[in-house]
Amino acid sequence: MICVKPVKQEFVAEIGEIDLSRTLPDDIFAEVEQAFNRYAVLIFRNQPLTEDQQIAFAIRFGELEISVQPFVSVPASKRRISTNFSDISNLDENGQLVSQTDNRRFINLANQFWHTDSSFKRTPGKMSMLSAQVVVPEGGETEFADMRAAWEALPAARQEALVNLVAEHDYFRSRVMVGLDPNSISPERRASRPAVPQVLVRQHPASGRKSLYLASHITHIYGMDIAESRRLVDELTAHATQPQFVYTHRWAIDDVVMWDNRCTMHRGRPHDETQPRAMRRATVKDVGPTVPENWHYAA
Ligand code: OGA
Ligand code: MN
Repeated sequence: MICVKPVKQEFVAEIGEIDLSRTLPDDIFAEVEQAFNRYAVLIFRNQPLTEDQQIAFAIRFGELEISVQPFVSVPASKRRISTNFSDISNLDENGQLVSQTDNRRFINLANQFWHTDSSFKRTPGKMSMLSAQVVVPEGGETEFADMRAAWEALPAARQEALVNLVAEHDYFRSRVMVGLDPNSISPERRASRPAVPQVLVRQHPASGRKSLYLASHITHIYGMDIAESRRLVDELTAHATQPQFVYTHRWAIDDVVMWDNRCTMHRGRPHDETQPRAMRRATVKDVGPTVPENWHYAA
């Protein structure tokens, strides 16, 4: 039996009496999965994991998302860690701090906007799992917002007006917001990451709970002009990230934190960029797109 200790009601739980470096027996894994489906953020303390151990645990939740993005982020030869991971660090392949203009810095800065992982892919992320190797003494927390609770707090009439909307998500939007020069994006790089549609309201397959599906990757809502879209998305984001829906994680070395991208948003908090911070993120894909492959917006 694992120990499940709620940290924030029905949203975040700390899991104890477990060793993630070993292969979990099926019944123990089922308890973890049940906690994952009920809460949306799980915290495991003091879990020093090798890359292989982290991947072995992550893939029990689904198919691994591989972090090889031609034209988009960091070439394989310049990676600090395996392409099985997103490198959530400010370090280069030699363990040195990246420069102010390094593409890797823009990725970190973009992560400081509220988002959900890989919503800019047709099949977005299901679950992400960070393992912390180097932490900063101050700042650098990760915040999580419960998008189910945020949805449930909306009046019924408001929910009804939102439930059938579809948003366009674009990888480059959040990068350009932090200073990536749009003219520096080659046509090949642009074409490798086309903007994609995602429903604005999702329903969790295990819990049945509905949630808002928002991210800084959203460019607009289909059928609305940019100004109207922005107003709506900004207002919903402000609503969903009120303190009562948010948990702040202060990192310690060897923390493992996993979250359900289908019903949460998260963001990194700023920190002194001259301090090293290093985490590895394993991400597993959802089972399919949130809107049918052949979907087209029809006014
Ligand atoms: C991520 C992410 C924020 C942070 O790992 O997906 O957005 O705190 N991280 O580094
Ligand atoms: Mn993220």
